[in-house]
Amino acid sequence: MTAAAHVIGWGKYVPVRVLTNEDLASMVDTSDDWIRTRTGIAERRVAVDGETTASMATRAARQALGIAGLNPIQLDLIVVATATPDHSFPATACLVQDALGAAHAAAFDLSAGCSGFIYALSVAADLIACGAYENVLVIGAETLSRITNWGDRATCVLFGDGAGALVLQANGGDGGVLSSVLGADGSGGELLCLPAGGSREPASHRTVTEGRHYIQMKGREVFRFAARIMPQATRQVLERAGLDISDVNLIIPHQANQRIMDTATRALGVSPGMVFSNLERYGNTSAASIPVALCEAVEQGLVHRNDVVVCVGFGAGLTWGAAAIRWSVPLPQEPPSRWTQMWYRINYVYAGLRSWVRRLLRRLLALWTRE
Ligand code: COA
Repeated sequence: MTAAAHVIGWGKYVPVRVLTNEDLASMVDTSDDWIRTRTGIAERRVAVDGETTASMATRAARQALGIAGLNPIQLDLIVVATATPDHSFPATACLVQDALGAAHAAAFDLSAGCSGFIYALSVAADLIACGAYENVLVIGAETLSRITNWGDRATCVLFGDGAGALVLQANGGDGGVLSSVLGADGSGGELLCLPAGGSREPASHRTVTEGRHYIQMKGREVFRFAARIMPQATRQVLERAGLDISDVNLIIPHQANQRIMDTATRALGVSPGMVFSNLERYGNTSAASIPVALCEAVEQGLVHRNDVVVCVGFGAGLTWGAAAIRWSVPLPQEPPSRWTQMWYRINYVYAGLRSWVRRLLRRLLALWTRE
């Protein structure tokens, strides 16, 4: 029997700093009423100084590994979906690998905008299903506040920061990731993009003064695309799994705009209670939005063993994706004991020490071998 990818751990991290609609109204010409009625967002989280995509991803990952009861050394692969990596390279996934002490894991980043988490989940599930890996950590993490133009009211009201993670494990039992669909339409690339900083427009005085390092978006067109693609991708992923919409217990959509989610809910003919939303508190956290929402749905007791959960997203690219999961872990989960938690902490201190020693040894070796 071939193994499927089962979700055995989940975790999230959002920065403590809250930016409310009222705060934004004191920064740009907007209002709480406009933002709530047009988007459904009331507040979002913004990374504090020193917080980065890698640091938030690491915190979400630690929580997910704790719930999975997995030592980072057992991980075979780490995939980080992000549009806001710490650097162009090295990959944020490598920074997370080092911070966790996941010494046996390969690591790479994946860029598919707000669909990034679904892409990463799909790739990881297929790598598990083909027998290449057993334990895979999939993370969606973003520090969108660093590429947001806080003077542009059309975009700054929408986005927030955060990270979510899932631990996937190969298992021959029933359930796990049942199917996934991914799609792209590059002709819509300019509808949502970060124009400069890549090979087309390297950073220069001009790109900085013209604000080319900030998110640029044609909101209405993205809205139309999203409202059409969400129900379409949901139906496709269910068809691929041999399921019907009536088999679904919970839908976790990408959290971009409540009106998009409501339109998709109506198009699918499901009850609003079946479609999870935490957008009001976090705004659009891009690749982090689906894993953070899934984690909160589990924490709120909305997911049960054998439930079918459909995650569906869309984003820059343009891209879209959906994944159908049959939840196989019994819930609620017992939190790890105090001793286990202490053991995890010791492991992470060891990981930090290991990284420090390896850097030191590399420097010493460089000195030693210098001509
Ligand atoms: N506060 C007050 N007014 C605002 C505003 C703000 N924050 N942002 C835009 N406006 C104004 C516009 O200037 C425009 O004014 P005008 O009619 O005088 O020109 C008016 O509100 C309507 O703008 P419009 O862009 O047509 O609004 P909208 O109803 O389409 O809502 C979005 C704008 C961005 C909320 C909506 O298009 C959207 O959510 N799109 C999808 C974006 C998305 O999900 N992106 C991420 C994809 S992963």
